[in-house]
Amino acid sequence: MLGQLPLISDPNVLVGFSNSDDAGVYRINDETAVVLTADFFTPIVDDPYWFGAIAAANSLSDVYAMGGRPIAAINIAALPGDPEFLPVNKRIMLGGFEKMVEAGVPVIGGHTIKDKEPKFGFAVLGSIHPDRILDNSRAKAGDALILTKPIGTGIISTGVKRGMCGPEVIEEFTTSMATLNRMAGELMLEVGVSTATDITGFGLIGHLHEVLSASNLWARLYSDRVPCFKEALRLAADNIIPGGTVSNIRSYSSQVQWSVGIPDTMKALLNDAQTSGGLLIFVPEEKKETLLARILEKGGMAVHIGDVMEAGTGEARRIIVER
Ligand code: CO
Ligand code: CO
Repeated sequence: MLGQLPLISDPNVLVGFSNSDDAGVYRINDETAVVLTADFFTPIVDDPYWFGAIAAANSLSDVYAMGGRPIAAINIAALPGDPEFLPVNKRIMLGGFEKMVEAGVPVIGGHTIKDKEPKFGFAVLGSIHPDRILDNSRAKAGDALILTKPIGTGIISTGVKRGMCGPEVIEEFTTSMATLNRMAGELMLEVGVSTATDITGFGLIGHLHEVLSASNLWARLYSDRVPCFKEALRLAADNIIPGGTVSNIRSYSSQVQWSVGIPDTMKALLNDAQTSGGLLIFVPEEKKETLLARILEKGGMAVHIGDVMEAGTGEARRIIVER
């Protein structure tokens, strides 16, 4: 959407919006740059506290995905002004602020306007060394692809809205979306990786494609290994697929080569628009086992789901999905 705006030619803008990266990066001096990002959305779960917590976790993800350390945040809110909504508004704020406390990020201000349909999120400031920015152009052929959360939250949230999911499913997907990407983000910096992105609205395929096209590379995905919410597979089989996911399937179909026998439900899952999804980490093959072990050791999820290759030639497609 930003494609038609004038390009900025400030040498201190290290990452702008030209490579559809996760966040912008601005150089202060040779040792310090700041990462800047903002994210807010309408309620994804019914519980106001968890809506706030998920919005906070989601807004921090772009900073972690860039290899940055979040420093401070300000809230952005549009909330109903009627007095009966006040307790609900307070719960949204509390959920968001407590998640920021968990992340060690002080909330130092914000802005709220009145709006019938609630919207909530944060603008986040992070810091990063100007030479260690994990932007989308840094993937390398031979990198292994590591995913740190299961996919399918878009399909589940549609199922929840239609009253098709039980409380255990709601709890499981709420917990996943509210989980910070902090631990995986910190460990990947310790181990040393090529780059990373977080999985959100464009789905696993779409966000993988952004990195591959910025790095001019191809990849192979092993669909059987990709961690999915079981409920999402069940709902997809019932054709419960959100609009955003349908448009992802359309947008990326010309970029994906599906091996024979991959079911349509799996195609939907791999394109499913996520909220507060995991990190997709591009790690050099020789560091893969170390990274997987370090994340699992700390109780996180980390699964090797694919590998990056040199760009091919001719008519073939950028992402090859195997069973
Ligand atoms: Co992102
Ligand atoms: Co974002």
